[in-house]
Amino acid sequence: MEMNLTSKKELGIGLSAGEKHYRAFVGPPEKYDIVSAMQFNLLTFLGLREHHRLLDIGCGSLRVGRLLLPYLLPGNYFGIEPEEWLVKEGIKQLGDDLIELKLPSFLYRTDFPASEFGVVFDYAIAQSIFSHASQQQISQCLDQVKKCLAPHGILAATFISGDTDYDGTEWVYPGCVDYTEKTMAKLANASGLEFKIIDWPHPNGQTWSLFYHKDNNNEVPDPTYKLITDTRQQLPLIKVDQFIDEHNESVGSFDSMHLLGRKYILRGWSRNPITQRPSEKVIVTNENHQIISQTKIDVVREDVGQAYNSAEMNISGWEIYIDKKEIPSSTKRLFVYSYCDGILYKLYGEFEVKF
Ligand SMILES: C[S@@+](CC[C@H](N)C(=O)[O-])C[C@H]1O[C@@H](n2cnc3c(N)ncnc32)[C@H](O)[C@@H]1O
Repeated sequence: MEMNLTSKKELGIGLSAGEKHYRAFVGPPEKYDIVSAMQFNLLTFLGLREHHRLLDIGCGSLRVGRLLLPYLLPGNYFGIEPEEWLVKEGIKQLGDDLIELKLPSFLYRTDFPASEFGVVFDYAIAQSIFSHASQQQISQCLDQVKKCLAPHGILAATFISGDTDYDGTEWVYPGCVDYTEKTMAKLANASGLEFKIIDWPHPNGQTWSLFYHKDNNNEVPDPTYKLITDTRQQLPLIKVDQFIDEHNESVGSFDSMHLLGRKYILRGWSRNPITQRPSEKVIVTNENHQIISQTKIDVVREDVGQAYNSAEMNISGWEIYIDKKEIPSSTKRLFVYSYCDGILYKLYGEFEVKF
C-alpha cells in the first residue's frame, strides 16, 4: 500500500538520521517500527514480565517505550534522556491517558543517573547508546547500572563491533563509534559486571550484548543461539540450478558496500527478469560461486518503481549485513544474484573485500 504525502511527513520518511523529528532524531525513520519490535522481543525473550521494573537508558522518543508501557504494570517503566523534547514528542504520539495509567518516570540528564530513581531494576536496555558514547560515558553508565541492577538483573545494550576503539571523550552523533569486543568486556569488568555477546539481530548491524552481575553467570541465556545456528545450517540448502553471470542491467543492481565496524553493509535492488516483478530474494557469493548469505526483498525503492513505472517495484530493494567472519578468507570480491526459482542472475556491480 502506498503512503500518502502527509503520513510520510508525519513519519519522517525521507529524513536523515539525526534530523529534528521524533523518529529521525533516533535513527533511520524507515526502520523506527522494526527497532521498537526488536527491543521488545529481545526483552521478553530474556524473560521480561509485566511486574518487572525496567530502565530505558537514552529512551529517546519512546521507540521501545511505546510497546513497553502497555505491557508493564503501572510505575515500572523508567527512562533517562537528555533531550526532553524527544520524550514529550513520544508521549504526544501515545496520548496522555496511557501516561496517566502507566505512570512512567523520566530523568532528563546526560550523566546516566540510574540509581537516583531509588529502585532496583530487573532489566535495563541501552539501544544505540554505546554506539555514540565515549569510554568514560560507557563506564559512567555501567557504574550506575551496577548500583541498581537486581542480582538476577540484565542490561541489554548494543554497540558497533570493530577492530579499533574510539578514544575521544565526546558523545558522537548522529555519527557512530566502534569498540572491540575486548574493550567492551574490559569496561564491563572494570565496573564489576560480566559481559556476553548475543546473536540477536539488529537492522542497522549493531551487536547486542548483555551485562550482568558476576554470580548470575549461569542464569543469563543466549536467546538466539539455537535459532541462529539452525538458520545458518539452512544456507547450503538453497536450490541452485544455474548461475547466469552475463551482465544484464534489468535484473537489478548491487549499489553499494561499506564497512560498519566488522560488518559489511550491502545494498541494492533486484528484479525477476521472467515475471518482471521484484525477485524472491538475493544471494551473496564470492568469485567462486560460494554462497555466503541471502536476504529477502523488503526495502522501499521508489526510484526503481518509477523507472519501471510499476508500483510493485517500489519494494524491490534489499539490504544485508555480513560479518567479516562469515566470509571465506580466500574471497576477493562479493557478488549478488537475483534468486528466481533456482536460477541465479548476477546483479550489476561487484565490490572488493578487505580483511
Ligand atoms: C540513537 S538514539 C537511540 C534512542 C533509543 N534508545 C531508541 O532505541 O530509539 C540515542 C539517544 O541517546 C540520547 N543521548 C544522548 N546523550 C545521552 C546521554 N549522555 N545519556 C543518555 N542518553 C543520551 C540521544 O538524545 C538519543 O535519544
